[in-house]
Amino acid sequence: MAKQRVLTGITTTGTPHLGNYVGAIRPAIEASRDDAVESFFFLADYHALIKCQDPDLVRQSTKEIAATWLALGLDTDNAVFYRQSDIPEIPELTWVLNCNAAKGLMNRAHAYKAAVQANEEAGEDPDFAVTMGLFSYPVLMAADILMFNAHKIPVGKDQIQHVEMARDIAGRFNHNFADVFTLPEAVVDDSVAVLQGLDGRKMSKSYNNTIPLFLTEKKLKKHINKIKTNLLEPGEPKDPDDSTVFQVWSAFADAVETARMRKEFENGIAWGEAKKQLFELVNDEIGAARERYNELMDDPGYIEETLLKGAERAREHSSALIANVREAVGISAIR
Ligand code: TRP
Repeated sequence: MAKQRVLTGITTTGTPHLGNYVGAIRPAIEASRDDAVESFFFLADYHALIKCQDPDLVRQSTKEIAATWLALGLDTDNAVFYRQSDIPEIPELTWVLNCNAAKGLMNRAHAYKAAVQANEEAGEDPDFAVTMGLFSYPVLMAADILMFNAHKIPVGKDQIQHVEMARDIAGRFNHNFADVFTLPEAVVDDSVAVLQGLDGRKMSKSYNNTIPLFLTEKKLKKHINKIKTNLLEPGEPKDPDDSTVFQVWSAFADAVETARMRKEFENGIAWGEAKKQLFELVNDEIGAARERYNELMDDPGYIEETLLKGAERAREHSSALIANVREAVGISAIR
């Protein structure tokens, strides 16, 4: 049987934080070590342009995200690791899919609907500041996925709809033209923690409550000290299930250490002490990768070379697929 192909993209806006690490990067790198799967991971820099019009931020984020995945031990001989914009067949396929995707389907996309709703609430024109990039974002994402005949797409809950749209578009194309595309499926791993941020809400760049992954030790300590707690004194029992400190702890600790900390909470551990132990736990897990990350950030040539090698491997697939697509829709040499 052919290997299951797993593919996921990372939009290159922002600096990777502990929530990205626990919720996406760590499980993806772990899963890519499984011989039964073929992994495709890519930097979605064309997607970044939808949200971010600051070229320096896009450039910096692309570099940081690439360095992060490499520093955390992604094996690029095994997984195919590339940058979306190095694959010219992706925008080409996007156009062909644009000619097949129903506008009515795109009208239902959450990201677009949320923008329209916000405009309506603000008394603006419904399409105020909505670009065609935002509107057709799911088509670009469908091209990313269908280009590599991926079976499984690990994503967060907010992206399930986009994967379903890709499946829909693929089915329609296969029906109208030829059986070119594999129908993809979203996978949402509920056992993976959604990390809480400094204020107790989901850790997210849009809430400005993140702990960046590769801070200096000093700054990491500072950030952990900023995690919101209540006013209970040392010695007073604390509820672990109502605590961000404990929640982050359990995302990094094994079962034995998690059980021990639960007991410590019940026994009234001081917040300062709990945070000190949390810092040590997190720092132990990421310390070596941080060093490697700093080395990589000082060696952009190496990152670039690695991405270009990945693109070369990716294009073996994408050039074959786009040839089938062109043939199917009637774009070919005169004959
Ligand atoms: N849109 C996804 C996000 O914001 C990133 C992404 C782009 C992606 N292309 C993809 C994810 C293809 C999975 C498959 O998280």
